[in-house]
Amino acid sequence: MEALEAILSRRSIRKYQDRAIPEEVVHQLLEAGMSAPTARNMKPWYFLVINERPILDAIAGFHPYAAMLPEAPLAILVCGDREAEPIDGFLSQNCSAATENILLAAHALGLGAVWLGIYPRQERIEAISQLIGLPELVLPITLIAVGYPAEEKKTRNRFDRSKVRYNHW
Ligand SMILES: Cc1cc2nc3c(=O)[nH]c(=O)nc-3n(C[C@H](O)[C@H](O)[C@H](O)COP(=O)(O)O)c2cc1C
Repeated sequence: MEALEAILSRRSIRKYQDRAIPEEVVHQLLEAGMSAPTARNMKPWYFLVINERPILDAIAGFHPYAAMLPEAPLAILVCGDREAEPIDGFLSQNCSAATENILLAAHALGLGAVWLGIYPRQERIEAISQLIGLPELVLPITLIAVGYPAEEKKTRNRFDRSKVRYNHW
């Protein structure tokens, strides 16, 4: 799929087939994530692949908008490394760029995915850190549910001229 077509047609997919994602496809998603730009090229991130059913189910138990996880074969927790990047605002921007890359790669590979917000919700950060056993200096930023799609969504053109300014407000 061409890059612009992938960007314009990507949608959040929350229903999945009961089908595992091959390891080489997971590798492609992670490679896409790690191709994102980062401040000072620090790459201050970790990607935690979650494919154990009890862990996916447990996240759905405390995350208020993660009802799709018990159906998903896999999720990727994108975490920031506070040792490499001490400013959380930059950590979240770096990890968000990686997250969008993974969403687009998933779409281009015929998968469906959705971004689940973790940071800056303190209760979600604490619950997932405890569940996964994250070290003190690793901050969970986003979670991406991924699977082969069991729903189809139409492309929407969201271009809005009223949101655009040139040179001055
Ligand atoms: C920061 C952020 C947090 C989000 N959190 C959730 C979430 O917790 N659960 C969910 O189902 N979708 C979540 N989404 C997905 C949005 O709901 C979705 O992108 C939006 O409704 C637009 O739909 P589209 O992705 O199909 O274009 C999140 C998206 C972003 C960017």
